[in-house]
Amino acid sequence: MNMRQERKNPLFRLFVVAALLVLVPGLGAGAAKAPGDISSLPHLVSKDGRHALILDGAPFLILGAQCHNSSAWPAMLPKVWPAIEYLHANTLEIPVYWEQFEPEPGKFDTSVVDTLLQQAREHNVRLVLLWFGTWKNGSSHYMPLWMKSQPDKYPRIIGRNGRRVDSPSPHAPATLAADTRAFSALMRHLKAKDRQHTVILVQVENAPGSWGSVRDFSPEAQKLFMAPVPAELLKAFGTNAATGGNWTEVFGANADEYFHAWSIARFIGQVAAAGKAEYPLPLYVNAALRDPLTPGPGNTYESGGPTDNVLWIWKAAAPAIDLLAPDIYQNDSARYRKVLELYSRPDTALFVPETRGSPEQARLCFAALGRGAIGWAPFGLDYTAYANEPLEAPRLTEQSLAQVALNYRMLEPIMHEVARLSFEGKLQAVAEEPGEATQTMDLGDWKVVVSYGGSRRGGGGTAPGNATPTGRALVARIGADQFWVTGVFCRIDFRPASGGQREFLRVEEVAASEGKRTGGGPRGAFRFVRIWNGDETDWGLNFSSAPQALRVRLGTY
Ligand code: DGJ
Repeated sequence: MNMRQERKNPLFRLFVVAALLVLVPGLGAGAAKAPGDISSLPHLVSKDGRHALILDGAPFLILGAQCHNSSAWPAMLPKVWPAIEYLHANTLEIPVYWEQFEPEPGKFDTSVVDTLLQQAREHNVRLVLLWFGTWKNGSSHYMPLWMKSQPDKYPRIIGRNGRRVDSPSPHAPATLAADTRAFSALMRHLKAKDRQHTVILVQVENAPGSWGSVRDFSPEAQKLFMAPVPAELLKAFGTNAATGGNWTEVFGANADEYFHAWSIARFIGQVAAAGKAEYPLPLYVNAALRDPLTPGPGNTYESGGPTDNVLWIWKAAAPAIDLLAPDIYQNDSARYRKVLELYSRPDTALFVPETRGSPEQARLCFAALGRGAIGWAPFGLDYTAYANEPLEAPRLTEQSLAQVALNYRMLEPIMHEVARLSFEGKLQAVAEEPGEATQTMDLGDWKVVVSYGGSRRGGGGTAPGNATPTGRALVARIGADQFWVTGVFCRIDFRPASGGQREFLRVEEVAASEGKRTGGGPRGAFRFVRIWNGDETDWGLNFSSAPQALRVRLGTY
């Protein structure tokens, strides 16, 4: 038998497979894994205060878009996918409506979820499903009709003045039981129907909390409010306060808000835990924020949700929730950045599930990446002709989506590297600030200087800043003197910390591979496009509006 004949021999093939299973650690384990195996599910990992969402064994970066509230109906999806495709988003965030999912008590209609799964797979994107359950923006408008018609059984909260407030009560056992049953059914269905993990995260409820009353003042709530603060919360508070104190005695002026946060978080924590017991995907709750710099009292924002002052309460009350994620609709970048700071914590990965996708705010994706975000997703990016976000656009067009699309196109070829290097603490990213024409990043042996608005030639030090601050830049260290570099409307240059002068030894442009992509990832490995040299590197690396990603090798002379 010659070598070629030998390779065709079935016994030889068996031998090769067996040898591979023994010699390549993990290969056998991977192959033997049942599709529902927890270790192969999307999951979050944390190390040294940094976080990653692991998908198919590797860190994944959510380049996301959320559709409008009423776009998750099969008839509307043809107006959703073209926007997602144009954006090069790898993940669509889309609601599951309780009123649609459970039209009669205990009878579940999974047809829309199945359509979402099927169409997401056809479009090669992942899904973040948003459970529009008991809470949607502080109200309960997505409860099924059979619940809405029984307001005494599924009550709203009562304000201080005794009037009903349009917000569901977290102290209603029937509501809790109904939501728990429905959310569990959803997760059970995903477990059965989503072996390929099209769904990577699930949002439990939407922006829970209450507008118009700091808390529930119903008789049931009053009884709990006058009772001793639960020991778990006292422990999380790290207080010396004697156990046995009621909410006012322990928390003083914050008692009302803390009580409401605890009550809602306990409710949602139970719904989440039941869903997770069915199918343990990572779960999160999104927050309607309070002003991060000058917050007023609890009755001036949506009280009870995971605002920055009560994250610790949510952590203690709802351990089944993995992430507390800010919806950032702040217009000024100081507030935007403060929110990023407040929600990137050693115990919570930063994920921005909603934000503005306006041309001016697209750059702030890079501010989030600079804080180690696992993903970023503007709200309302579809062509259903409802345009509340971005507020500036009367109608959403490719032109109004162009700056977000630019982000995703430039990050697409290196998205896995970006997610991995961010997790390893080797990535820095910045967004242009008004009045700050130059920014620096420290990458150990190399200082990175990012300048905005200068001419393509000459010193970056004289750059005036862009007319509107739209610049952004990202640099990630691959090896000692090697980096991934990408940016928009900026120049990126390097200074050796040890002195000497920087030399670009090799600057390679890469692009996403051509062909079909799979499951939200890039189209296979990126491909080499060309080497930048001459005008393209003589004054630093100038980026304009083209989606370009570079692999850069530096030296000194
Ligand atoms: C935040 C909510 O979470 C979304 O569902 C949507 O209502 C947006 N606000 C609208 O701006």
